[in-house]
Amino acid sequence: MIKTATAQACSNIALIKYWGKRDAALNLPTNGSLSLTLDGMTTQTTVHWDAGYEADAVSLNGKALADSELTKMSKFLDLVRNKAGISLKAKVESQNNFPTAAGLASSASGFAALALAASQAAGLELEPRELSILARQGSGSASRSIFGGFAEWKRGETPDGTDSYAEQLMPPEAWPDVRMLVVVLEPRPKPISSRAGMTQTVATSPMYPAWLETVGADLDAARKALFAKDLEALGTVAEANALKMHATMLTTLPTILYWQPTTVALMHRVWELRRDGIPGWFTIDAGPNVKVLTDEAHIEKLANALAAVEGVERVLVCKPGSGAALC
Ligand code: PMV
Repeated sequence: MIKTATAQACSNIALIKYWGKRDAALNLPTNGSLSLTLDGMTTQTTVHWDAGYEADAVSLNGKALADSELTKMSKFLDLVRNKAGISLKAKVESQNNFPTAAGLASSASGFAALALAASQAAGLELEPRELSILARQGSGSASRSIFGGFAEWKRGETPDGTDSYAEQLMPPEAWPDVRMLVVVLEPRPKPISSRAGMTQTVATSPMYPAWLETVGADLDAARKALFAKDLEALGTVAEANALKMHATMLTTLPTILYWQPTTVALMHRVWELRRDGIPGWFTIDAGPNVKVLTDEAHIEKLANALAAVEGVERVLVCKPGSGAALC
């Protein structure tokens, strides 16, 4: 049995968002979502299973995890232990090549890389679909990072989650001039995790039923735009879907607002630039950073203009990335 494996996976940004769980333990979503996997925002993870280890040990960027963070990882490793029929403990070493301190979500790339490395090291040869189901149980969005390019995570219907996995809609090389600009703001403490934010929204937002009623049509429109390689149509539905998700958060009790003044300034700037003929459509996740969908021809102008907005710390330019792979 192989006992060591290293894998890497890229982060992804949803253009149609996952917001709300129908099963919290299994990370089953209330709706399907669609994302772009980002080149250059990568997690690399090595897993060793060894009879000599007495407990799981996990480090992220050289720092050992403890308490609830470690418990979460051990629970995830239990899924792999159960599948492989082993009881060994693991040493997990994970590195992000992008600034974690900047508040960029690393759970998608992290759990996708961990799912592949841990299962492979345990002697399992999982199909991409099974890997996606496994990664999903660490973090919902990680189900999509198993795949490169554009991916769709299906809501599924069954209570056990066997039909809730991601699939590739378009490989990265099929639409290579798409770009995602990740605009990183000066770091501030995150008010509430996405997990807690979703739970609260589903429980208390009067707008949540409207989200559920309309997100399926957004997903259809995004898929159609993607297959037509119509960036404007894709950007338009993605921007509207992100704003709709934030509208559900704003109307929870107590209110959740992830935006900072710079977030709003960036939204206005993207609209201004668009009026001036520079195509860009923003999306925002459970944090203040702004991601902008555009194309190669306009990336430089857009990046320079957004970097100049007060409160912006840095901008990262990402191409469509590849799926999780062994190193
Ligand atoms: O997978 P999680 O638990 O990190 O949740 C991700 C939630 C959003 O980023 C806001 C939306 C998404 O689909 O990625």
